[in-house]
Amino acid sequence: MQVFSTVAEFRQACTQAKRPLGLVPTMGALHAGHTALIRRSVDECKTTAATLFVNPAQFGPKEDFNSYPRNVQADMGTFEHEGVNLLFTPSTDEVYPPDFDTWVHAGKLSERLEGEFRPGHFRGVATVVCKLLSIARPDKAYFGQKDVQQTLVIKRINTDLNLGADIVVVPTVREPDGLALSSRNVKLNPDERRVATVLYNALSLAKEAVANGATDAGAIRAAMEELLRKEPLAQMDYATITDASTLEQLDAISRPALALIAARIGKTRLIDNMPLYP
Ligand code: PAF
Repeated sequence: MQVFSTVAEFRQACTQAKRPLGLVPTMGALHAGHTALIRRSVDECKTTAATLFVNPAQFGPKEDFNSYPRNVQADMGTFEHEGVNLLFTPSTDEVYPPDFDTWVHAGKLSERLEGEFRPGHFRGVATVVCKLLSIARPDKAYFGQKDVQQTLVIKRINTDLNLGADIVVVPTVREPDGLALSSRNVKLNPDERRVATVLYNALSLAKEAVANGATDAGAIRAAMEELLRKEPLAQMDYATITDASTLEQLDAISRPALALIAARIGKTRLIDNMPLYP
């Protein structure tokens, strides 16, 4: 595995790489969800490039940038072991030099849900992903379904800005009790970890209701909210059912939809979602 810290060197290595080239952008603190992205790229591409950069621009001033889990040594071992060929680990100044002044805004999709609760978050995500896709020019780029709104925002910028990658969305990897893998899970204490499964349980309730023929999104939303309210350690930001592509809230489930939840368990904010097929 070759490791690069400058844009110029990483770009050159990507230009010379055997195609197809797959890109797996990460913020490190790797878990089996990231491994699934890397494995898919290694499986589908002749070269796999990964990036490890905790992007300050996607954290709000009161969010957990400073306490975001970091585990660079272990991550390097995982990248190498999983077959990553090129790894980009830039400094913040390399990505955002002092005179940096161009930001990417992905419009309506970035204003809903996470955009409402984390103003500026998608501006940071869209900007860094746009930069990474522009530098590496991959044939394919891999992102997890757990951050479904992020995947929709990235597809939007990839199309609108003609970045030319095939955006591949990889299914969410879950713990045996259903909790979606997330780098933030390590911050949960044992009580919080037990309670955190409520997100999956509420999403499963929605999935089961739709599988049994329910179409009233309002009633399902209310049932999800009720389940979350029963857990004193869980503070819900939203539990909703939306169109699967636009993320507009639905009244009736008559086309592919998503159930989405964001909740704080103690001080740790978790998100999860479940595709719903009527
Ligand atoms: O999903 C993440 O880890 C980040 O949002 C990403 C896509 C690497 C951009 O910083």
